[in-house]
Amino acid sequence: MTIHYGGDYNPEQWPKHVWDADAGLFDQAAVTTVSIGIFAWSLLQPGPDSYDFTVLDEILDHLDAHGTRYLIATGTAAVPPWLATAHPDVCRTDFEGRVHRYGQRHNACPSSPAYRELSARLAGRLAERYRDRPGLVAWHVNNEYGGQCYCGLCEQGFRTWLKQRYGTLAALNHAWWTRFWGHVYTDWDQIQAPSMLTEHWKGPRYTAFNATTLDYKRFQTDAICGNFVDEKQAIRRHSDAPCTTNLMGAYEPLDYFTFAPHLDFVSWDSYPQYDDDRAMNALMHDLMRGLKGGQPFWLMEQTPSSTSSRDTSPMRRPGELSFYSYQAVAHGADAVMYFQMRASRGACEKWHGAVIWHGGRGDTRHFREVAELGHELSGLGELAGARTPARVALVFDWHAWWAQQLSDGPNRHVDYKAVMASWHAAFRRRGIDVDVVASDSSFDGYDVVAAPLLYLVRDGVAEALTAAAHRGASVWTGFLSGRVDSSDLAFLDVWPGPLKDLCGIRIDETDGRVPDWSNGVVVDGRTYDARLVFDIVATEGAEVVGTYAADWYAGLPALTRHEVGAGEGWYLATVGDDDLLDLVVDRLASRHGLGSPLAVAGVEVSTRRRDDVTWRFVACWDEPREITVDRACRELRRGVDLAAGDILRLAPYEVAVLRHEG
Ligand code: GLA
Ligand code: ZN
Repeated sequence: MTIHYGGDYNPEQWPKHVWDADAGLFDQAAVTTVSIGIFAWSLLQPGPDSYDFTVLDEILDHLDAHGTRYLIATGTAAVPPWLATAHPDVCRTDFEGRVHRYGQRHNACPSSPAYRELSARLAGRLAERYRDRPGLVAWHVNNEYGGQCYCGLCEQGFRTWLKQRYGTLAALNHAWWTRFWGHVYTDWDQIQAPSMLTEHWKGPRYTAFNATTLDYKRFQTDAICGNFVDEKQAIRRHSDAPCTTNLMGAYEPLDYFTFAPHLDFVSWDSYPQYDDDRAMNALMHDLMRGLKGGQPFWLMEQTPSSTSSRDTSPMRRPGELSFYSYQAVAHGADAVMYFQMRASRGACEKWHGAVIWHGGRGDTRHFREVAELGHELSGLGELAGARTPARVALVFDWHAWWAQQLSDGPNRHVDYKAVMASWHAAFRRRGIDVDVVASDSSFDGYDVVAAPLLYLVRDGVAEALTAAAHRGASVWTGFLSGRVDSSDLAFLDVWPGPLKDLCGIRIDETDGRVPDWSNGVVVDGRTYDARLVFDIVATEGAEVVGTYAADWYAGLPALTRHEVGAGEGWYLATVGDDDLLDLVVDRLASRHGLGSPLAVAGVEVSTRRRDDVTWRFVACWDEPREITVDRACRELRRGVDLAAGDILRLAPYEVAVLRHEG
């Protein structure tokens, strides 16, 4: 068992003596695995009917000779210039209606027949040629699928997709509520891709017809996922090696739960943006692990030092790389990979952090950190495959996210990702592991199901949440939940629609306010800060836990709890501060016996387990911390045995790995 260690590697950009030098540096850093050929299409196929695998053959021979393992990329994330010239329809039309010409990458129209055929053909050729290579670990299909296309082919594809979804125009007109602003469609061909030229103003979040835009996002997800499936099927004709594509965390344009069943394992690229982005990054890891029901995933890319895609390039401080690498492993990663192994010499990413800079040196500060980490991870292979034993589920739903952010009213400042991160972080502050799950997944086995901002409720989801409460779970939802069905049609009910009986409340009105306007929520005499949206709640069976502090709704319920069967339904009516979220989590944790004794302020505690072995990761950020060890265990990085009651002092960025049996 191995924790794979390495990253994107582009030897095709370099002469062979550099490959040999790199191989020496890889050994120095205990690199096991690289991703090859990610943007190699134009090199592998110089023309419509000519393929040239000479360079890739040589690269793989070289890697095999050195015992380095590899993912072979299909290279289809950047179309070759000749393809755009021969088939201009591979180029996208953007949201503003501009028809693009050749340039950049991630630039293919997902509906283009030429793109679909030729990308799959290349993937198949690669699989046929390299399937028996000893170093092959997996197929890296495409790269960071993303963006959207609004061209005529996509519009036509959208119409076909709609026919399949709705069957009749009458059903579509109902779902889209087209009598509003006189949009009743009488022919499928009248339907347009929703863009700045049609239903949108001010940008992608502002649409006259929410359901049209929502369906377009679903369609584009299906079309782009279809590109992955095209390539995977072509690979499968020759090779059974696993297929993945590198995702991007909570990437808004694509519903990754649609991709998940097609991926053999999930991999993703993690680029935390600011100095203190670790809580959001933790959520992203849990989401990526959740895509395939808790299966370990790969950290496919991270920077060893800085990025260059933003206006400034903050560098990872000494220790930060190790922190983020262990954070990934703690949340379920079986691989720690970089972009990039060697910096390119030209073009736009030459200043992007790399394991090996242009000088080719192995005696730099960041290289030493990379090497140290590589040797450590090579000793932790037993962790590969271990799972996260979470008893809390956090429901993440792209459809709810899309619908809520497209909504005019009650407040455009409510940010889905930020809300998810704040609820997630409240559990994580107590050292509680969290599975991030789809709204239509099973909630069996979870003690707590948190479903913030479940604005759009798909069929069956309210019933499943209610059933979870009946069998003893605590279900926690809140503001702006239970508003629309999967077609974005408002429920013909008081709010939170199908969740009202679970929560034992009704809501008739919601106050939406600017971000610096605040009210409070009073619980047991203490006032917590609350912002943005304030549901006016009346209880219908629920107990009032907290009330609004001020304004004309002072004293009305803001936090409620309703006993349901053996469990309960909680409703938080406003965007409460962290202390208020902590208060709810404390109530849930004490009811279900959740929380880690190792969780002190400023550390992140995560668990992985296999059979009867448990690993607990205690991650310290930029200040030293102390934890009291609760049971006999071994700290694997320092190689010391610890007993209950021992004090473990953690240095800034240190992550302790505590192993015990049981
Ligand atoms: C993405 C891409 C890489 C590279 C990095 C730079 O993750 O997949 O090719 O562009 O960004 O941060
Ligand atoms: Zn298109």
